[in-house]
Amino acid sequence: MDKLKIVGGTKLKGQVRISGAKNSALPAMAASLLTVGDVILENLPMVNDIFTTRRLLRELGVGVEFDSNRSGRFRAEKVLSVEAPYDLVKTMRASVLVLGPLLARTGHARVSLPGGCAIGARPINLHIKGFEKLGAQIRTEHGYVDASAERLTGAEISFEKITVTGTENLMMAATLASGRTVLKNAACEPEVIDLAELLNKMGAKVSGAGTSTITIEGVPELHGATHRVIPDRIEAGTFLAAGAITNGELDLLDCNPTHLASVIEKFRETGVNIETAPDRIMLRSNGNLRAADVVTKEYPGFATDMQAQYMALMTQATGSSVITENIFENRFMHASELMRMGANIQINGSHAVVKGKTCLTGANVIASDLRASASLILAALVAKGFTVVDRVYHLDRGYEKIEEKLRAAGAQIERLK
Ligand code: EPZ
Repeated sequence: MDKLKIVGGTKLKGQVRISGAKNSALPAMAASLLTVGDVILENLPMVNDIFTTRRLLRELGVGVEFDSNRSGRFRAEKVLSVEAPYDLVKTMRASVLVLGPLLARTGHARVSLPGGCAIGARPINLHIKGFEKLGAQIRTEHGYVDASAERLTGAEISFEKITVTGTENLMMAATLASGRTVLKNAACEPEVIDLAELLNKMGAKVSGAGTSTITIEGVPELHGATHRVIPDRIEAGTFLAAGAITNGELDLLDCNPTHLASVIEKFRETGVNIETAPDRIMLRSNGNLRAADVVTKEYPGFATDMQAQYMALMTQATGSSVITENIFENRFMHASELMRMGANIQINGSHAVVKGKTCLTGANVIASDLRASASLILAALVAKGFTVVDRVYHLDRGYEKIEEKLRAAGAQIERLK
């Protein structure tokens, strides 16, 4: 397994180009199952979760071609299989996003239950309840969800809890259902809006995406389309943290600052200077970070996917900060590794109290999940001596060439194969 070796102490300086959003590209790729036509997706991030989804779609019979310019052509002329196998789903739970499109397109879907992951139990009960509301018969056995329906029928679905992929899965299924579907308490994330834009380009009738009520008028069929995936707001947020923690000067290019409004606002509260332009963010940090509490919330609140990175930042801030994780029940795995580097963190249920500023020292640490691995790299960038981060396969799932981007901004980082 690859590891990353980082020597701390360098102030980051320069430009970083932000890639397309993983969490937008994954549902967009699944949406290609809804039509026989060509779906062309531009600005795809070349990360492992994208390659896993490509493998899954090919197993289902979708023709997938990537070019050298981060574009992919998807052609689901024939769906040859309706099964998303355990081997693939266990490596990437977002595979569950093929359930809605397969069910709507073929009347049948068989998807391995994702099971829990490092950050929480993460059930898909709300997805299943939604499909039952659309008239699907669902059997869960042998670790698989088996769903069938001659044709889905539009319905009103009110989510007990806001779920991003649940909203996306039901929205995709409802595009080919007969009649109208209304999703209430829906997720408002930019990735949900991006998916709705793609579906409407394919001939769907989706309105209200970005609000908590989404309406979908079912249509008999969809056609091909070309769509550019939005920038990755979490990758951008991660680089903002890298610039802030190293007292750096970074310009982030090809990003969308409006998608990061709550993160930018919080960083400004800690004393970081941030200016924005339509597609870029300019960060200047003077090193006097102030502690500030944060609570993770659904969009437009502070993203849970930025919590680990923010915790690393708060180890270098003067004062105590309370970090409250409201979305996932087990998303403080990075804290113990940060403490091994010298951080002062106390966990109490969904609250973490970080006392700063602490002098971090390099160590051997292990990444437990995608965003946790990012937080360990951030800590390593300011730690005395060198750090070796193990299990960076977590990182490669969602960050495109992060060590090259960091090195281009001055970081001393290398991949140990
Ligand atoms: C999406 O996961 C993202 N993944 C996650 O990003 C992100 O952390 C999460 O949304 C929250 O923003 C993708 O888009 C591929 P949820 P998702 O359903 O959709 C509970 C990353 O780092 N819930 O919105 O799986 C659930 O357990 C990843 O890129 C149910 O109880 O998250 C959680 O507590 C990590 N039943 C809460 O709702 C359900 O049926 C929100 O989960 C569904 C969800």
